[in-house]
Amino acid sequence: MMQEELNGIKIKVTPPGPEAKKIIELNDKYLARSTQSLPVVGKLGKGVYVEDVDGNVYLDFASGISVTNLGHLDPYVTQKVEEQLHKLWHFPGTDFYTEMQVLAAKSLIEVTPGKFNKKVFFTNSGTESVEAAIKIAKSYTHRERFIGFIGAFHGRTQGSLSFTASKPIHHKGFFPSMPGVEHVPFPNPYRNPFNIDGYEEPDELVNRVIDYIETYLLKTYVPPEDVAGILAEPIQGEGGYIVPPMNFFKELRKLADKYHIPLLIDEVQSGFGRTGKFFASEHFGVEPDVITLAKSIASGIPMGAAVMKEEMNFSENGLHSNTFGGNLIASAACVATIDEMKKLNAVENAAKQGAYMKKRLVELQNKYNEIGDVRGLGLMLAIDFVKDRRTKEPNSKLRNDVINNAFKNGLILLSTGSSAIRIIPPLIITQEQVDEGIEVLDKAIKMSK
Ligand SMILES: Cc1ncc(COP(=O)(O)O)c(C=O)c1O
Repeated sequence: MMQEELNGIKIKVTPPGPEAKKIIELNDKYLARSTQSLPVVGKLGKGVYVEDVDGNVYLDFASGISVTNLGHLDPYVTQKVEEQLHKLWHFPGTDFYTEMQVLAAKSLIEVTPGKFNKKVFFTNSGTESVEAAIKIAKSYTHRERFIGFIGAFHGRTQGSLSFTASKPIHHKGFFPSMPGVEHVPFPNPYRNPFNIDGYEEPDELVNRVIDYIETYLLKTYVPPEDVAGILAEPIQGEGGYIVPPMNFFKELRKLADKYHIPLLIDEVQSGFGRTGKFFASEHFGVEPDVITLAKSIASGIPMGAAVMKEEMNFSENGLHSNTFGGNLIASAACVATIDEMKKLNAVENAAKQGAYMKKRLVELQNKYNEIGDVRGLGLMLAIDFVKDRRTKEPNSKLRNDVINNAFKNGLILLSTGSSAIRIIPPLIITQEQVDEGIEVLDKAIKMSK
C-alpha cells in the first residue's frame, strides 16, 4: 500500500495478524523487555494514520507517546531531513561548531516562554534533558537538594528517576537513585491529595500544597538555602494527565522566588503545541528558569534540550557535555518542525480540535457512568475509568479492555496513571478524524463494559 492511501481506518485481519505475530516473536527473542503495551507492528505512517505489517491501517491517537505532533512523515520536515542527509550527519556540536545547531538553538529560544536571554544545551532524550537541568541547577546554585512532586514522571536514569514518582515499578530494585529529592503532593483536582470529606476549592488545594512545601519542608527539615531547584511538569503526564488549578504555578513561582530557588519545568510531554499553546507553562502564566524538552521537538528524530536563563549557563567548559547533542539530522528536523508548526497553524489547530475532542469525550462521559473524569488542555486529553463515580475508585481493568478493543477496531491508544487513557493525536488532526476516533472509542467502551 502506498502511504498516500493511508486515509482512514482499515482492519483487514484482526490484529495482531500473522505477520505481526512473527515480528513480535522475533522481538521477544532479541530485544530486552521494556514497557510493551499493544501488539501493533508499525510499517508505514502518513499523517494521523499508521499501517501495520498485515496491511491494517490504524488511526494514531498516541502520536508515538506525544512525539509525532505533526503527524507521520510531514513532507516539509522529511524534505529538510533529506537535504541534511546529503550534507553532513554528525559533527559533534559540543566540541565543534555547526550552523544547523545554532539555528535549532535560536528557534527553541524564540518559542520557549520568557523574553529574557537564554542558552540551550542539546540532549538526545527527555531523561537526558532532565539530567542536564539537574546539573544546571546544581552548578548554578552550588546546592544539592531538590523538591519534586508525587505523581511526577521525569525519566528513568538515576538522576531523573529520583524525581519520578508515578508508579512503584519505575523504582523496583533500583534504590537508591540520586539522593536529596523530597516529594510533595501535587494539586490533583480530581483525586486531591488532602481529600478528607469531598470536594475542595481549587484555591484551597493550591494553598494547601504551597503551605505544605513551606511549612513541612522549608521550615522543618529542608533548609531553603540548600535547595537547588523545584522540578515540576505543568501537567503531569505519565501520572495520569493531571491538570493543576490555573493559579498553581504562579503561587509556586512566588514561593520559589521568596526563597531564591530556581523553578525547573519539564515540558517533555506537554510542550510543542500539545496543549493548544506552544508550551503548557503559558496556560499557567509561568516562565521557567530551566525548561526541559524532548519528544516532539524534532518530529521523531531523537532530540532533547534544556533551555535555561542565560545566567544559569555552565561556568566552565567541560562541566557538562555529550557526543550526539545537537546532531545535524536532529537539528535540521527541529528547525523544520518549528517552521512547519507555524506554517500549518498546528498550535491553533490543537486548541480548536482539542476543544471539539473534549466536547465529544464529555458526550461519552454522559453516556457511560464508567468514565469518571474527562480532563486536559488542547490535545493533551484523558478519560479516567472508575468503578464508582462517587468513590472515584480507579478501574484499570476496564481501561485496559477499552484500549485492547479500540486497537482491534483500528484505534491506537495509550494508558496513563492507574485508570486513564490519554487522547493525544497529532496536532494536525481534522474534525472528521476526531469523529472517526470517537466512534471507535465509543464502540470499544460498549464492548468492554
Ligand atoms: C514529562 C516527561 N519528562 C521526561 C520524560 C523522559 O523522556 P524520555 O523517555 O525521552 O527519556 C518523559 C517521558 O515520557 C516525560 O513525559
